[in-house]
Amino acid sequence: FGPGRHALRGATLSFHADPFLSDPHASYTHLPDALVVIEDGRIAEAGPYDRLRASVEGSMPVAHYPDALILPGFVDTHIHYPQTQMIGAFGEQLLEWLNKYTFVTEQQFADPAHAGMVSELFLRELLRAGTTTAAVYCTVHPGSVDAFFQASQRFDTRMIAGKVLMDRNAPEALRDTVQSGYEDSRNLIRKWHGKGRQLYCITPRFAATSSQAQLESAARLWREHPGTYMQTHLSENLGEVGWIAELFPDCCDYFEVYRRVGLAGPRAIFAHAVHVSEDELCACHRAGAALSHCPTSNLFLGSGLFRVFDAKRADRPVRVGLGTDIGGGTAFSQLQTLNEAYKVAALNQTRLTAAHAFYLATRGGAHALYLDDRLGAIEPGYEADLVVLDLKSTPLMDFRMRYCADLMERLFVLMTLGDDRAVRATYVAGRPVYDRSRQPAPFRY
Ligand code: GUN
Ligand code: ZN
Repeated sequence: FGPGRHALRGATLSFHADPFLSDPHASYTHLPDALVVIEDGRIAEAGPYDRLRASVEGSMPVAHYPDALILPGFVDTHIHYPQTQMIGAFGEQLLEWLNKYTFVTEQQFADPAHAGMVSELFLRELLRAGTTTAAVYCTVHPGSVDAFFQASQRFDTRMIAGKVLMDRNAPEALRDTVQSGYEDSRNLIRKWHGKGRQLYCITPRFAATSSQAQLESAARLWREHPGTYMQTHLSENLGEVGWIAELFPDCCDYFEVYRRVGLAGPRAIFAHAVHVSEDELCACHRAGAALSHCPTSNLFLGSGLFRVFDAKRADRPVRVGLGTDIGGGTAFSQLQTLNEAYKVAALNQTRLTAAHAFYLATRGGAHALYLDDRLGAIEPGYEADLVVLDLKSTPLMDFRMRYCADLMERLFVLMTLGDDRAVRATYVAGRPVYDRSRQPAPFRY
């Protein structure tokens, strides 16, 4: 997989429109037998096999995937790599869970060797799940960011990540200051933002752990570095919402805490937004900021039910992506995340169709991140990050698929029964980085 061209053959699915805002059935292109030609890490051509076969056959290697579906690599808009080692921590809701598990675990990332080992394992898990881009929280330690980006560079994955900013309401060992948080983040931006495929994300954890001065300093840093991202948490849990109201009594709502300092705008990602008001959704729409829907986490931590159809309302649509929120969330797989997203929507008396779901996991996530000009679709010029899903990955899936009448039924079964076993292969910048049939030696840790 050096310079030359190569191709993938199989069924493809790619969205060209937002099914929340237009006819879902007209929002995607499905080719039952396609060729995706890759050159220099990008998609050079994609079209029906019958049309392209003459120019491809014999002139380049072709990887054929029958009984599979090739999609753009999944996009995860909210995830914490240091929390990989604490998935499934028992029994608490958000604020107790942070103190009892998260803040204990994250202290281990003062050790760069630990950070490097977890980064590697984390990226392998993402790729095994078919996720090729993610917005990632590191810890307060600058070394945790270096370790992560170094690992991401080795895979050449397009990752968005940053150092957590936290100057209060956390253990001493996890606190920075307004000054050190600013300087450390600025140095990391200089080192990593735009290096290869890496993108920097200014990361104030949430308003409870950053003083007003630190939020202002984060906003200044973001203004000073156009093109960087900003990520934080918003209105996840009712106890948290009450605490924020006490900490910021002069703000009319939670979103306003961030907006008034300049932390709302394009390339801002707010995770959860479970308990947001209509005013907050309107403000989010006006700002061009994105929300990350994290259903496995919201159910696991008992946070509540995100209203995706309300957020995406056509008269003031908010950008929404899917997030796994490892380790509040319980799965790396976007298929498992969609399974839970469907149930959350059902409890809200709405119906997430397979078209809505797979849009969110691909082009919708890229749109939320302002990367939909290069990621999230199978189109010429797009970066060749692809996932090959196996429609017969388990005996039950194979059996169930025989009773599916059309593509949408197959996709819905895939997201209901599917998990990492359904990922046949993952390609990053055109290179195969994961192949289920050729498992590497077990990871040593
Ligand atoms: N709010 C502030 N920090 C966190 C975190 O690490 N995980 C989740 N789910 N919510 C948060
Ligand atoms: Zn989170």
